[in-house]
Amino acid sequence: MKRHLLSMSDLSAGDIIDILNLAEQLKFERKNGIEHKLLTGKTLGMIFQKSSTRTRVSFEAGMYQLGGQALFLSSRDLQIGRGESVEDTARVLSRYLDGIMIRTYSHKEVEDFAAHGTIPVINGLTDYAHPCQVLADLMTVREYKGGLEGLKAAYIGDGNNMANSIIIGGLTAGMRISAACPRGYGPDKKVLDFAAGYGDKFMLTEDPFDAAENADVLCTDVWSSMGMEEEAEIRRVVFARYCIDEKLMEAARPGAMVLHCLPAHRGEEITADVFEAHADEIFEEAENRLHVQKAVLVKLMS
Ligand code: CP
Ligand code: NVA
Repeated sequence: MKRHLLSMSDLSAGDIIDILNLAEQLKFERKNGIEHKLLTGKTLGMIFQKSSTRTRVSFEAGMYQLGGQALFLSSRDLQIGRGESVEDTARVLSRYLDGIMIRTYSHKEVEDFAAHGTIPVINGLTDYAHPCQVLADLMTVREYKGGLEGLKAAYIGDGNNMANSIIIGGLTAGMRISAACPRGYGPDKKVLDFAAGYGDKFMLTEDPFDAAENADVLCTDVWSSMGMEEEAEIRRVVFARYCIDEKLMEAARPGAMVLHCLPAHRGEEITADVFEAHADEIFEEAENRLHVQKAVLVKLMS
């Protein structure tokens, strides 16, 4: 496995399986009261430039459960917020910490941190990618469906960090992926170039019903990601038909799962009824952030 987890393209199919296997074992151990202090004495720094509920709490609790500790570092309080460079911050923090998780806007910042520091860097969400979330999504699909290979996942909505990561992660794991995004709001070009190597296992369309056809899993995310608040009004118009509702569920395979990384906007990207009908899957997906990130921490920091 590579030294950092910056995006899903850092992981091979074998890496994904190894992470999911370890995550399942750690989940079992936690549920059965079996200690697994695999990172005793280790410290993870967590730099947040954006809000978070799941990422912050699951990384922090996960480090404690592994016998280590986590430091919450708001970028507002660090000197980075007053202009100290990412490069210098990386060189300093590498001397104190054993690993760093970063949530920020620009993907280049996590790449720069990785290039200038000497400790593993984990991307806790950038505008480009959200790999920890997609590992939790893959874990949840594997739990519910018994495997990943050959299953079809359809992503409905904005071609954002989640779309980018689902496309790369899903294809790498052997799934078929379709994405329905409005024109001008598609996934990143790098991601489309990657997907082009998978032939007809990938489809990009503007029509949510084409994407959802016979899907085993439907995924969505907010229409306006963090940092796009000013575009919210126009996006509500552009994305109006990119909603997982009962009719779209009918296009999918009977028994299809629904995933949402949360937070959800009921009545926008998903109806309240579909959300509640699939709440068990969605909250299992949220729980799996904890288990899968613990597996990533062990793989990168032990
Ligand atoms: N899904 C996710 O990353 O949630 P948070 O923004 O609450 O961390
Ligand atoms: N695409 C969303 C995901 C939140 C977990 C955002 O970036 O805000």
